[in-house]
Amino acid sequence: MIQAEQIFKYFGNEPSRVTAVEDLNLTVEAGAKISIVGRSGSGKTTLLNLLSGLDRPTSGRLVIEGRELSRLNQNEMADYRLRCVGVVFQSFQLIPQRTAAQNVELPLIIRGMPANKRVRIVADALLRVGLEHRASHFPYALSGGEQQRVAIARAIVKRPSLLLADEPTGNLDSQTTTEIMQLIMQIAEESNLTLVLVSHDHELAVKYSERIVTMCDGRMSEVIAK
Ligand SMILES: Nc1ncnc2c1ncn2[C@@H]1O[C@H](COP(=O)(O)OP(=O)(O)OP(=O)(O)O)[C@@H](O)[C@H]1O
Ligand SMILES: [Mg+2]
Repeated sequence: MIQAEQIFKYFGNEPSRVTAVEDLNLTVEAGAKISIVGRSGSGKTTLLNLLSGLDRPTSGRLVIEGRELSRLNQNEMADYRLRCVGVVFQSFQLIPQRTAAQNVELPLIIRGMPANKRVRIVADALLRVGLEHRASHFPYALSGGEQQRVAIARAIVKRPSLLLADEPTGNLDSQTTTEIMQLIMQIAEESNLTLVLVSHDHELAVKYSERIVTMCDGRMSEVIAK
C-alpha cells in the first residue's frame, strides 16, 4: 500500500528552483493497478523515483508497505529498494557486459544470496517472462521486447510487493507493446503486486489500469476510477 501526503519535490534553489511535484496526495491500495499519465515534464518520473526510493521528497510523508520512506537511513532505503520494489524503465537499463541470466541475478547477488540458491530462482524468473531459451544471450543479441522481458525478470526476481514501470513500452512497436503490457499485467495479477505504470499513452493507461492519475505541472490534477 502507498500513502503519499502533501508531497513536494523541488530541484535546485531559488531563483531557478523547479517544482517537480507539488502538494501531491495519493493512496494506492495493496494489489491495485494504477497509471500515471501527463505531458512531458509534468513530474511523472520524479514521482516514480520518490516511490522507488531513488530520490526523496523535499517535504511530505510517504509510507509504502508500512515503511515511512522519509525516515529511512541509507542502508534501510537500500534494503527497501532491494526487497520491496521492482522497477522497469523505458530504456531497459540492462548491463551490456552481463548475460540475460546474469542481469536477472544481480539483485540476488547484492542481497547476498548463495550461488546454488540463485540459479533456480533466476531460471524461474526467466521462465515467467518466456525467455528461458535466451538465458546466456547478452543484451546486444536480444530484441527490444526481449530486453524488456529480461528487465521485468530482474524486477520480479526480488519478489517485490510493488512494481513500478516508467514508460515500459516507449521504445517498442505496437505488437510488442501489447505483449509486454500483457506480461506485466499477468505477472502483477499472479503475484498480487501493486502496479504503478507511467505512460504518455492515455489509451494504453485506460486499457490496462483500474485507475488513472493525471499529472500536470507537478500537480496531480485528476483521478479517474473505472
Ligand atoms: N534532477 C533534476 N534536476 C533539476 N530539474 C529536474 C530534475 N529532474 C527533473 N527535473 C525537472 O522536473 C520536472 C519534472 O520532470 P520529470 O522527469 O518528472 O517529468 P516527466 O513527467 O517524467 O517527463 P517525461 O514524460 O518527458 O519523461 C521537469 O521540469 C524537469 O526538468
Ligand atoms: Mg519521465
